[in-house]
Amino acid sequence: MLTVKDLRDVYGKRVYVRVDFNVPQKNGVIRDNNRIKAALPTIEDLVGKGAKVILMSHLGKIKWKEPDLAKIEAMKKANDMAPVADELQRLLPNVKVRFCPATRGEVLATAVAALQPGEVLLAQNTRYEKGEEKNDPELAKEWASLADAFVMDAFGSAHRAHASTVGVPTILKAEGKPVAEGYLMIKEVDNLTRCCDVKIKDRPYIAILGGFKVSDKIKVIDALLKKCDKILIGGAMAYTFKKALGMKTGNSPVEDEQIGYAKKCLEEAGGRILLPIDSVVTNSFEPVEGRLIKTVEGDIPDGFQGVDIGPKTEALYKEAILQAHMLFWNGPMGVFEQSEFQSGTKAICEAVRALKGKAFTVCGGGDSAAAVKQFGYKADFSHVSTGGGASLEMIENNGSLPGVDVLR
Ligand code: 3PG
Repeated sequence: MLTVKDLRDVYGKRVYVRVDFNVPQKNGVIRDNNRIKAALPTIEDLVGKGAKVILMSHLGKIKWKEPDLAKIEAMKKANDMAPVADELQRLLPNVKVRFCPATRGEVLATAVAALQPGEVLLAQNTRYEKGEEKNDPELAKEWASLADAFVMDAFGSAHRAHASTVGVPTILKAEGKPVAEGYLMIKEVDNLTRCCDVKIKDRPYIAILGGFKVSDKIKVIDALLKKCDKILIGGAMAYTFKKALGMKTGNSPVEDEQIGYAKKCLEEAGGRILLPIDSVVTNSFEPVEGRLIKTVEGDIPDGFQGVDIGPKTEALYKEAILQAHMLFWNGPMGVFEQSEFQSGTKAICEAVRALKGKAFTVCGGGDSAAAVKQFGYKADFSHVSTGGGASLEMIENNGSLPGVDVLR
């Protein structure tokens, strides 16, 4: 696989870089610029070599099935890429960063033609195009016609076979033009491949899974059951597993249609799946008057829902984590957005901190990565991924992703 480092002769050439600038933002205010910062090494490398850098990314979701056109326009407005271009310019003060409000056509072609060596152009949100998510061949052809080379640095989007991630490199490759991976991709793929390819020295290999739904994690649980020595389960998905054991779960969110699957996993795991032995529960999710919060062991009483793992589970999980030589974590243990329910997720972070230098530890993006950053533990992990869905799919597919495979 070519890397951006291998693209030596790019002075004055148009290099199309797919980045993942899908950052959390509201009304143009960016709440976390980590994904933009993560793409800077690739952008700076190409700028330094005098390439004309064309950046493409999606931002948020545009539901094209929506029949009301006014609502589609509102979704577009809410996901305008212009503030991201401003942020990129702030991060690259010595580079000219241009923004193109169009995604295709004359306006985009003119903006690309006006680019000078060492300059950067960020185009409007790729999802403004209905054909992006369908990998529309005409759209991919038009985008590919703007480029002399392609660099994939959008790890967070590498599980999406869209026009900008797979369509464009497929065409450029067929035309004999270079397609390469960027520095962020290299780092992400290396670290996540290691989580798929377990060596004897990596054992015990411990996975920690949390988050809301079992149904979102079925494939990853199946894949991890084949690889891991233990899987520690927390978050709302734990209640479906508890119900599968015949326990009471009160008002906790349970996916009844996944109980059969949970039972199957527990049988297959033969004791390798650990479930919470106690839970923090509340009678009200919202912090209203009369709210009760308590810790219960075993069954969760009616009128209460589980919102975090309890202290005994924290201790049990910590003991398991401290044995690990390799660890993969995806999904928080509780509703960490509320300070009352952060303890379980923080306990996992603390246990990983204690492993620093002794084990290979990966946090697989999404909400758990947000929690790790929020609580100040990022430096304690060997790797914190920028891609939630992408890192899960990489594990599920044993190291393969459409946006990576196309570069091979
Ligand atoms: C992400 O945030 O996980 C990626 O940018 C992919 O976004 P998507 O789930 O909207 O395709």
